[in-house]
Amino acid sequence: MDRRQFLGLSAAAVVTGLLPGCSKDTPSGPRIGSNSQIVADYERKRRAANAAVAEVKLRAAATDVDLGGGVINTWTYNGGLPGPLIRVRKGDVIRATIQNDLPADTAIHWHGIGLRNDMDGVPGLTQEPIKPGSSFTYEFAVPDSGTHWFHPHLGTQLERGLYAPLIVDDPAEKADYDIDTIVIFDDWLKGDPDATLAGLKKNGMGGMDMPGMDHGSMVMPQSDVLDGDAADVTSYQGLLANGRFPTAPVVVGCREGQRVRLRIINAAADTAFRVGIPGQKMTVTHTDGFAVQPVEGDAVLLGQGERIDAIVTVKGVTRVIGVGEGRGLFAQLILYPEGAQASQDVPAMAQSVEKANPLRLPDFVAAESVRLASKSPDVTHDLVLGGPGSNYEWTINGIAFDHAKPLEGALDIKPGQRVRLNYRNDSTMFHPMHLHGHTFQVVNNGKPGARKDTAIVLPKQTLTVDFDATNPGQWVTHCHNVYHGESGMMSVLSYVES
Ligand code: C2O
Ligand code: CU
Repeated sequence: MDRRQFLGLSAAAVVTGLLPGCSKDTPSGPRIGSNSQIVADYERKRRAANAAVAEVKLRAAATDVDLGGGVINTWTYNGGLPGPLIRVRKGDVIRATIQNDLPADTAIHWHGIGLRNDMDGVPGLTQEPIKPGSSFTYEFAVPDSGTHWFHPHLGTQLERGLYAPLIVDDPAEKADYDIDTIVIFDDWLKGDPDATLAGLKKNGMGGMDMPGMDHGSMVMPQSDVLDGDAADVTSYQGLLANGRFPTAPVVVGCREGQRVRLRIINAAADTAFRVGIPGQKMTVTHTDGFAVQPVEGDAVLLGQGERIDAIVTVKGVTRVIGVGEGRGLFAQLILYPEGAQASQDVPAMAQSVEKANPLRLPDFVAAESVRLASKSPDVTHDLVLGGPGSNYEWTINGIAFDHAKPLEGALDIKPGQRVRLNYRNDSTMFHPMHLHGHTFQVVNNGKPGARKDTAIVLPKQTLTVDFDATNPGQWVTHCHNVYHGESGMMSVLSYVES
């Protein structure tokens, strides 16, 4: 099947959503679907004629992987967990062909990239799902540098291990570090993620016989920095850093005194991480790929989907430790200078990270170079985050997202508008809210905060963000807790023609 055929089908998907009864409000103009000429025209402007093309081959399949605690069989990209690094330069074009050898439909979402809408990987909204045994080629220009990642946007597939880093270098950026290391944190479930989600839906929160829960205790993970509940599922076997449990960690060779740029990614489904380097402060330089005014801290809090870049110095055996909020578990990656002695009390080190005061969203301010021009919003949308309902529905503005009717409750925006979103959390749990295709700027008490695409909204708090509507199409915004997103906490920002 060729791409034109897929685009035709995705047009049908978007048009279906326009039928009366599928959308509550009538859009103020024709919606700009992923297959729209407008999307193609924006891509043409984004893509330089001489842009380098990075060819990538991916295969999603069930494979054996060694997590450093026994070999397990799970779903991976190219047999690895994490999957293979894609690394390009700003302005390059990625042409990635994925062969789906999974026993299920799939698709790839390129998290953090302001890419053309029809390559965003949201089945039912921007493309047809990729069927088992078939392949699909994603091709898009990459406009911004930064630490990003990719994963499926379908069910709980991310939780099975389908994720990988995507790093975009800026050749104009001056490097003040010696080496660059990616650290991806994840939570590793005991058992099957679909059964866990089904259990949550069947029994609701705190229900009995919940496959996702410890039967002995109903005490849910709590976190002081998340103002309450930290997670919904307790049956995690452990935490991973670059696919390894802390007892068999990845060790990176380096030299004493080297400056290391850590690119830290939280790929977990249901775990926020507090990340620190015992014995030293880290200097955070980027949030979700965009530069911030450098800020020092003992640790940093990362919700699901969030990334930070930070500079640290190798001082003896240097451990990057991520503690799962409320879980009493950690994962680690070791920076190991030649000849160093390694006798350290690692559990005590993990405890020191668990007790450290982490940098949080209000501590970050975008660097001047990436700050949005100051401008008052042309349109403001409120997104009220609610749940869980009796069947574990999580909602935005009272609607649990339905993949068959993606445009129900859609929020309209127009090309060129400055858009303000108020994520108002009415629930008693935090939500790491992600916006596709754009990088917003957080509003901190009326002042500019960090540029980000994913940010924690604390219980009973409102997070305000601004962005410029410069990438037409149909874009989801959703909670990056996989169980929340899949249980309805997702909505569409829908461009309409002006
Ligand atoms: Cu990383 Cu819509 O997700
Ligand atoms: Cu959530």
